[in-house]
Amino acid sequence: MNLKKHLNAVHANWEKHATTDPLWSIITHDEKKNSRWDLQEFFETGKSEIDEVISYVKNQSLPLNFGCALDFGCGVGRLTQALAEYFSEVKGVDISPTMVDKASEYNKNVGRVSFHLNLKSDLSLFESDSFDFIYSNITLQHMSPNLAKMYIVEMYRTLKPGGLLIFQEPTEIKTKYKILVEVIYRAMLIWRRLVFFFVKTPHMEMHYISQKEAEKLFNKMGATLLLSRKSDAAGQWFNSLQYFITKPHLSE
Ligand SMILES: C[S@@+](CC[C@H](N)C(=O)[O-])C[C@H]1O[C@@H](n2cnc3c(N)ncnc32)[C@H](O)[C@@H]1O
Repeated sequence: MNLKKHLNAVHANWEKHATTDPLWSIITHDEKKNSRWDLQEFFETGKSEIDEVISYVKNQSLPLNFGCALDFGCGVGRLTQALAEYFSEVKGVDISPTMVDKASEYNKNVGRVSFHLNLKSDLSLFESDSFDFIYSNITLQHMSPNLAKMYIVEMYRTLKPGGLLIFQEPTEIKTKYKILVEVIYRAMLIWRRLVFFFVKTPHMEMHYISQKEAEKLFNKMGATLLLSRKSDAAGQWFNSLQYFITKPHLSE
């Protein structure tokens, strides 16, 4: 599938999620399926996540300026709202118009927090070197590695020198029978894409980028990988990492 078709498919699939069971599509706990998430409880999961990340960043003495932050793949603003407790301005960006509308409806910090729709494979709606902090969780894993890499490059472009970019991405499928599982999984993906327009229910496509490939990309971008740590955001079938990256100042 070429990039434009894939981007359209990602957009259509997340629009289906957003109009079917948006909160469950973000945090897929079985018992919360069919609109059973309590809104307050849902947003509290975002607060706990961001509190933990900020305290980890402080403990590791990583660069941290509480100016302008970006939440890539913001959904209904679960993490964007939590980031607003720390940063003076926060922008959320998402590919689904319904997610962006819902995020704006739930926005408790109008004026400091804004939500943006982006249907492109780049982030040209944001200027280079404009964010002190960029965060993305459970988003890049749902698109092809090629597209995910394009957004990683774009997030890095929009990061200020000395800023901090944190994102999560699975690194591999957790299995002894890698090739067999991979073949079956790819076949299922192709089948699901073929029947997409005839099936009302959205699907949860999963992808990964090996750690080696990710580190190769960081080198190519001129980025400094400060550290990485295990993440459980991709569920039981995938190993996943959260990467912490900074952009050196020109003089460094
Ligand atoms: C599982 S949800 C996670 C939402 C949010 N990060 C959170 O943790 O609450 C994935 C989100 O990524 C968005 N998304 C998927 N592909 C995207 C893309 N290419 N650009 C921007 N957002 C995207 C989806 O619309 C959805 O809202």
